[in-house]
Amino acid sequence: MLIVTGATGRLGALIVNRLLERVPAGRIGVSVRDVGKAADLAERGVRVRAGDFTEPGSLKHAFEGAERVLVVSAAIRGGGALT
Ligand SMILES: NC(=O)c1ccc[n+]([C@@H]2O[C@H](COP(=O)([O-])OP(=O)(O)OC[C@H]3O[C@@H](n4cnc5c(N)ncnc54)[C@H](OP(=O)(O)O)[C@@H]3O)[C@@H](O)[C@H]2O)c1
Repeated sequence: MLIVTGATGRLGALIVNRLLERVPAGRIGVSVRDVGKAADLAERGVRVRAGDFTEPGSLKHAFEGAERVLVVSAAIRGGGALT
């Protein structure tokens, strides 16, 4: 499975839309802070899981089964960026 983070943001959304033109939706997963914001992707067959860079435990679940992970960087400053 190909995992993309930040899929509810500008760059991540563009990447996922391009991926959907190339590979089956069932091979794509997104790791997002708010799964509700990715409801459109879930309807298209993309696996949507909650993942927050400041909560490492959530990423283990969001990245489960990943062949590759494309990490779209987020503007996080302070201690949260180091966890
Ligand atoms: N836009 C472009 O064309 C472009 C081109 C080249 C490079 N970039 C780079 O790509 C990165 C993202 O840019 P963007 O324009 O897509 O920004 P954006 O629209 O603000 O998207 C940022 C994404 O990061 C997510 N995010 C923020 N904090 C997070 C956290 N703690 N854990 C997990 N996800 C978190 C946001 O989630 P929410 O949706 O929940 O807020 C959002 O999906 C930046 O580093 C930018 O410099 C962008």
